[in-house]
Formats: sequence, structure tokens, C-alpha cells
Amino acid sequence: MAFDIDMIKKVYATMGERVDIARKLVGKPLTLAEKILYSHLWDGNPDKVFTRGKDYVDFAPDRIACQDATAQMALLQFMQAGKPKVAVPTTVHCDHLIQAKSGAAADLKSANSTSAEVFDFLESVSNKYGIGFWKPGAGIIHQVVLENYAFPGGMMIGTDSHTVNAGGLGMVAIGVGGADAVDVMAGMAWELKFPKLIGVKLTGTISGWTAPKDVILKVAEILTVKGGTGAIVEYFGPGAKALSCTGKGTICNMGAEIGATTSTFGYDESMERYLRATDRADIADAANEVKEHLTADDEVYANPEQYFDQVIEINLSELGPLLNGPFTPDLSTEVGTSMTEKATKNDWPIQVEWGLIGSCTNSSYEDLSRASSIAQQALDKGLKMKAELGINPGSEQVRFTAERDGILGIFEKLDAKIFTNACGPCIGQWARYNDPKNAPKNSIVHSFNRNFAKRADGNPNTHAFVASPELTAAIAVAGRLDFNPLVDTLINENGEEVKFDEPTGWELPPKGFDVEDAGFVPPMEDGSGVQVVVSPSSERLQLLEPFTPMQPESLQGVKLLIKAFGKCTTDHISMAGPWLRFRGHLDNIANNTLIGAVNAFNKKTNFVKNQLTGEYGAVPDTQRAYKAKGIKSIVVGDHNYGEGSSREHAAMQPRHLGVGAVLVKSFARIHETNLKKQGMLGLTFANENDYDLIQEDDTFNFIDIAEFAPDKPLTLEVVHSDGSKDTIMANHTYNDAQINWFKEGSALNVIKRENAQ
Ligand code: F3S
Repeated sequence: MAFDIDMIKKVYATMGERVDIARKLVGKPLTLAEKILYSHLWDGNPDKVFTRGKDYVDFAPDRIACQDATAQMALLQFMQAGKPKVAVPTTVHCDHLIQAKSGAAADLKSANSTSAEVFDFLESVSNKYGIGFWKPGAGIIHQVVLENYAFPGGMMIGTDSHTVNAGGLGMVAIGVGGADAVDVMAGMAWELKFPKLIGVKLTGTISGWTAPKDVILKVAEILTVKGGTGAIVEYFGPGAKALSCTGKGTICNMGAEIGATTSTFGYDESMERYLRATDRADIADAANEVKEHLTADDEVYANPEQYFDQVIEINLSELGPLLNGPFTPDLSTEVGTSMTEKATKNDWPIQVEWGLIGSCTNSSYEDLSRASSIAQQALDKGLKMKAELGINPGSEQVRFTAERDGILGIFEKLDAKIFTNACGPCIGQWARYNDPKNAPKNSIVHSFNRNFAKRADGNPNTHAFVASPELTAAIAVAGRLDFNPLVDTLINENGEEVKFDEPTGWELPPKGFDVEDAGFVPPMEDGSGVQVVVSPSSERLQLLEPFTPMQPESLQGVKLLIKAFGKCTTDHISMAGPWLRFRGHLDNIANNTLIGAVNAFNKKTNFVKNQLTGEYGAVPDTQRAYKAKGIKSIVVGDHNYGEGSSREHAAMQPRHLGVGAVLVKSFARIHETNLKKQGMLGLTFANENDYDLIQEDDTFNFIDIAEFAPDKPLTLEVVHSDGSKDTIMANHTYNDAQINWFKEGSALNVIKRENAQ
């Protein structure tokens, strides 16, 4: 039903030749990451060597995956492209919009009612354009992708940062913004800076209480949250081969927490076992035929320092279980006495109130089975849970099989809550408190990936620690952060001293996977007759109108909307949190535009001067007042403007509200590209100090915008309120094609016109 073996065979058919050409061009043995990258070039066979960390390269991904929160705007945009079907196999997964509250059945029912219009929209668009649809309750996107679509040597993009999870099955899988996904859906290339390469050699073997999670928690400690930026992390060595495929997925998943572009492992027997267990023997057979291309050349792993930009070695035999947190995933503490000391010193609550097992990171059959072995011991040894326990299985296939095998029953005997197969508490969809802002200080332990303040329950006082599922289960039983199951004992209901044995589990279900309804809805063969209905009165969805091109005359008399001071990330430009529900409604979400940006003139947020009235007000209101009068505006910013997530809303909202240009000291590159795609001007000060010339009542004239051309700076006349003027130069990085986007109103308008020709 799901994967496309013909497409995979096509990838494998050309891989050998492309890898050989690339090896000759590069002039040395290749890493796995290089093999996958060079065999997925947009132009086909490689004809030049790319410089890591420098060259921008066009790629042709094999697949796209979207989750429900990001898919809304991505698909609304795709509908604008005028294509009858997506150009690349694509799936949509409903997993982010389901709250964890009472338990799976009730929670799913409630989500199906509160988000019905969003789910219905996603399903009908999927049906129309040939997209596979995974309905609410089918599972978490990355677990479902690993079970159904990931394949060794493939390249995938997804509109979620943890798309990287598919590296566990030997892919190069990368999280992108919706605008990038739309380009690929519409048949265009996908651009990426050729990444640097970090090699992680794993020696020794994992055993006892140590889990794959501890490998990535250790890597996070070593590299920190920024250490992987711009790099692909490639794991190898005997320790890597001995890990299960889903364990490899866990490690790749949390590569997002060290900022890595993605992470991957070479094809091995664990992947073959997983492919066969998940009903994909034909992929395993096809992969076996090209397996020398699905891992690095032998010489690379023999002398990694010569081929990677950085090499780390971890001896798994010496690695113990770790707890990372609170508030950041790279703060590692070994279980036991070091935690007692740290928690006391930092005033972290020792008592643990919840243990949560699940998320795309750790919700496999193996994860649940190992955690259940601890739960079973608690029952056998007469221990009572000191903390509450919540479980989110990764997919319906995992849930069904775990229920059949009695795993879920063990948790239930301990009064654990089995939540929906969905993200739930991992994305703040956890109805833990009525009033999270005023909730008490407390500690929780979970097997998720992110533990920033407020992430799980909205309570800034919740100290969240990340651990393996088995350690999470043990700590939930003990109810203490400093519990070390390797040495500590607990007193049971009969007053006896008892100790946990090491966790045990199954890499794969001994009786095989099973499921009655996996939750997949295939699209119609011919979806042309499908009507996508969006109610005009909906507050969550709004069909998009094409942006109209900005004429040169509209860029005269442009008003300053805000001069942003200091950091201005995509969160400052388009906040998340409660605004998530409007991700599919451009006009409604535009009411958060730049409300987090600090006004350089009064150091306040969301408080700017309306030049038409002289009064101060909210940024969106002020901008709407300019729009009502047909006046364009400009946003001025500092360095690295638009850093953070790749969400295209941060460019679409200002465009929708009538902002014409963004002029900054420097851009975060993805945001700059997003501005270009939406037909806006993204400019940088030729002279950084000109930022200081900009005053609160300034008006801008784009003197030579009619001659907008590549490599030619634009001239801006800045008229101050006293009538004095400054002329400043603004640099840009638009090429011919991107100038065309500007001239036609947006990249999508260009695609649509080309499609109609
Ligand atoms: Fe969902 Fe959390 Fe993963 S939000 S996709 S389970 S990181």
C-alpha cells in the first residue's frame, strides 16, 4: 500500500554509476553521506566537486513527508501551483493536533471533533493531488515513515525537524520549511548548502541499562546544541552495527537537538531485519544487491580523520545511562550520586511527578517492550508507582502489536495512561493543568527529544529530563530523579528491599507485526474531480489568493513599520504557542506579525508609531492601517534576521499585510529565501552603520527599483520627518530567476504561469 518499490529500484539502478563518477571527481573514497548526496543531484550524474559548508547544490529528493500542523500552509500553497498531482511521492500525517488528556479513545474522539475541518481539508487535498494520507491515530509521522517509507540510500525532505529520524534506515532525511516542500511537490529542485561531515565511531557494545538513547544524549553532551550545525553526522563502527534499526532511528532523531542537518547509518543487518519485519522484503532484497553503495567505502571508516571534518569516538561498553536536562537536551548527568549533587546545587525538584514514554524519538516496539520489562518487575516485586506514567505508542502498528503481546496490559496494570498514537505531550498537547502559567515547580522525566521550558505542559516551572524509555519507567516507579537502578534498592509494599534486574526486550516482535487498520488512506487514482472545501467563515483555514506583483511606483513613499532591535527570529516574526491553531489561515495568523520584535525606538514589543496618526499601537494593527491606505511599508532589522525555524509564515504574513521590503544588517539564509519566494524585497545594508540613520518617522523611496538586476545594489532615499534626506545603498542576492519571482509576485505565480503554458 505504502512504499513504491519501483521508485526505489530506479534510485538503486543509477546509484552505482553516480557514486563511481563522484569518487573519481572527488579523488578519494566516499562517506555514505557523500554517496547519497552525489547520487541525488538534480542534474543527474555528478560533474563537479562541491565544497562542504560552502556550495549551494540542487538536489532531487525521493520523498516528502508533512505533518498536520505544517502541511496546512504547505498544501494551501501547493494548490496555488496549478499542478494536477504532486511530482514526488508525498504523505501527510495527522499527529500534532491530538491532545493527551483522558486516554487514547476519548482524546482521539475529541481531536476528531475539534480539528475536524483541518483533518477533512488535509484528507481532501491529499486525495485530490495524489498524496498518501495517514489519519489521526495512525501514528507519529517519523515512526510511520520509518515503518513504511524510509529506505537505505534514499533522500527525503519533510516539513518537521525530526524528519532526520529516517537516518536510522540509512537515509539522508532532512527537515525543511513548507515553501521548500512545495517547490519539490511542484517538480522543482531543492537547494541545500553541501553539508560538512561529522563521523561518530561507536566501539564496544551496548548492554544492561544503557540504550541507544544514551548514545545521542552523550553526543549532545559532547557537541552541544549547536555542534552539529550545517553537518551530516554519520555513525559507524562495530557498536553502530550492533544497534537495532529503531535504536539507530532514536540516535538520528535527536541529531536535530545538536543542530545537525541530518544523521545517518550505513546499511547493515539490523536494517535488513527491520525491512523484512515491516513487510518490505523486496526493498531488503534490492538493497542487498547494491549494498556497497549504501555504506561508506571501507577506507573511510578505517581512517575516518582523513575523510570527515570532525571525528568523535564513543566506547559503548563504557557508556552508562544518562539523564539530560532540565531545559536543554545537552546537559548530561549520569544517573545516581552525580544527579543528587547537581539537583541539590541547582534546586531541581528531586521528586518526579510524571514519566512519559513515547514521541517520534522513542516509541518503537523495542522501546515499549524494554520499558514494559521494568513495569513487569515493579508488579512482580510488589512496587507501587511513585510517579504517574503516560505512554504514546509511535504508530497503530506498534500499538496493536504491543497490545496483542500483552505489553500495554502491563503498563495498564500500573495505572499508566495509554494516550493516542500521536505527539501529545511532546508538542505541548498535554492537558496537565488548567492554568499552566501558575502551576508549581516540579520534575518530569520523558523519553522525548526536546525539553525546553513549557514544551510539554506549558508550565515554565516544569523541569523536564530526557532519558531512555527503560530508565524513564524505572524513575517513574521510584519517583526520584536521583534513582540509580543499577545499584539502588526500593522498599516494596511489604516493606521488603527489592532491586530491579536489567531491562530486557525484543528488537522486533517475536510473532511479527500485526495491525487491523494502520490508518492509511490512499489517494484516488484520478483526483481531478475532488472538491476541496474550505468554509469562508472558517477561522483556521483560508484558501490563498495569489500575491500581486509590487509595481515600482508602489515602492515610493514607503513607511517604516518597525526598526527591530537585536535578535529577531522567526518566532518574533510569527509566534508559535496559541497561534499554532491559525497556521492554515493566513489572515488570522497575520495578527501575530512581528509582535515579538523589539522596537528600537522604545525597546518595547508590539508598540510602534503609526506615521499616519502619530499614535502608537500594535504592529499588525499599524500595518493594517497602512494597507488600508494602499501604502507599502518596510521592516528594518539587525543581524541574522529571521533565524530559527524555516516556517514560511514569517515571510507570508508581512507580504499578506502589505510590507514591501525587509532591510537588515544580515539574514538567516532560509528566511531570506522565503522572502524572495513570496515576492518581497529582502535587502541588506551595504554599510551596516546606516542602520543607525533610520529614524522613527522615516519614509523610503526605492529610486532605482525599475532597474532591479542581479549583482546591482539598490539605491534607497530615506526621507526624515524634518525633510532631510539620506541616500543609502542596499545589497541583495537575487539571481535572474528570483528577480522574476519578485516581478511576478511570487515563486508560485511563476510555477503556475509556466504550468499553464
Ligand atoms: Fe511529534 Fe514531538 Fe516528534 S512533536 S514529530 S513527537 S518531536
